[in-house]
Amino acid sequence: EAPIPTIFGLPLKYVSLVTLAVQNAALSIVMHYSRVSMPPSESYSPATAVLLNEILKGTISFVTALWRISRQNEQKPFSRAASSPLRQLLGEVFSPDCWKLSIPAFLYVVQNSLQFVAISNLPVATFQVTYQMKILTTAAFSVVLLRRRLSPTKWIALLFLAIGVAIVQLQTSSTSSPPPHSQTVAVGSAHDNAPYYMHVMSPLKGFGAVTAACFTSGLAGVYFEMVLKGSKADLWVRNVQLSLFSLPPALLPVIFHNDGRTAAQGFLHNFGAWAWATVAIQVFGGLVTAIVIKYSDNILKGFATSLSIVLSFLASVLLFHFRITPTFVLGASTVLAATWMYNQPAGREPAIITSVVNN
Ligand code: C5P
Repeated sequence: EAPIPTIFGLPLKYVSLVTLAVQNAALSIVMHYSRVSMPPSESYSPATAVLLNEILKGTISFVTALWRISRQNEQKPFSRAASSPLRQLLGEVFSPDCWKLSIPAFLYVVQNSLQFVAISNLPVATFQVTYQMKILTTAAFSVVLLRRRLSPTKWIALLFLAIGVAIVQLQTSSTSSPPPHSQTVAVGSAHDNAPYYMHVMSPLKGFGAVTAACFTSGLAGVYFEMVLKGSKADLWVRNVQLSLFSLPPALLPVIFHNDGRTAAQGFLHNFGAWAWATVAIQVFGGLVTAIVIKYSDNILKGFATSLSIVLSFLASVLLFHFRITPTFVLGASTVLAATWMYNQPAGREPAIITSVVNN
């Protein structure tokens, strides 16, 4: 067995899971703010953000992979490396099985674009809770593609997850019924002294986008895990392949933008500090996600991101005056309890659940 990698003396597995939870909370808040704080005429293009994300992630992965190869070559007792590190890396990137990454690459581009639609149309906390449905889709795809078997406890946990999300969804749709401006009232910005909403949200559109994103997330995550763990290829090389295959689908919407912008207005039109911050947190998140999938798995990843719900609730209350209603608390607690239940190791499920299941 290879030794478990550490960072600052701590196991990388846990450091990456906690980092991912914090990153997730930060991303939904910054991304939401970057979209809703500007009137539509001053907003940036999400397509540009999705493309920049892939270019930056790919570049960082490329440099990391190159550095690792150079270091490995130096450590070889007889420096007999057949070719330069760059040649070696290119050989690995364009390996015969690189096409396998085209599937998750396409799915992630779709998902990253849908995320913008979702987060622009839902309050942050609602988005976060609903996005937990990823656990459900990830489980379903793990069963189908990785032939994982789920215990009855896990299936019950998934059912609770769905119920919890439905409760949160119900409360959001009831608070956002007429008058039309109540979407902004729902997050408490209309009557307080710090209004920041310049954008009318449409919860139905938001929920549709989140649901679709949950499917692509589950499928792409499981597929990436399958490719990564099914071969010896380096994680960073896989990431470079993933970014390369993301370029064509990410470029198309930038070239054929139909949001009324003229070509003269340019690729980076309205791309301000908040937009750059969104991209930076996304790039960081993508890299941490890859590390989590390698050293843990997609299911533990779901656990980390549920933890981030609590963080973003607190932040939403402080920053966006989000009002926590009893229904919201009920739904969100159900989601958290379900996540906890799902992550109970086999044989350590709470007695009450095993007795219900076995009788
Ligand atoms: O929904 P989920 O947590 O699976 O989102 C994964 C995110 O991480 C996506 O934005 C995707 O682009 C990114 N990712 C990545 N590199 C990987 C795996 C995922 O950038 N190897």
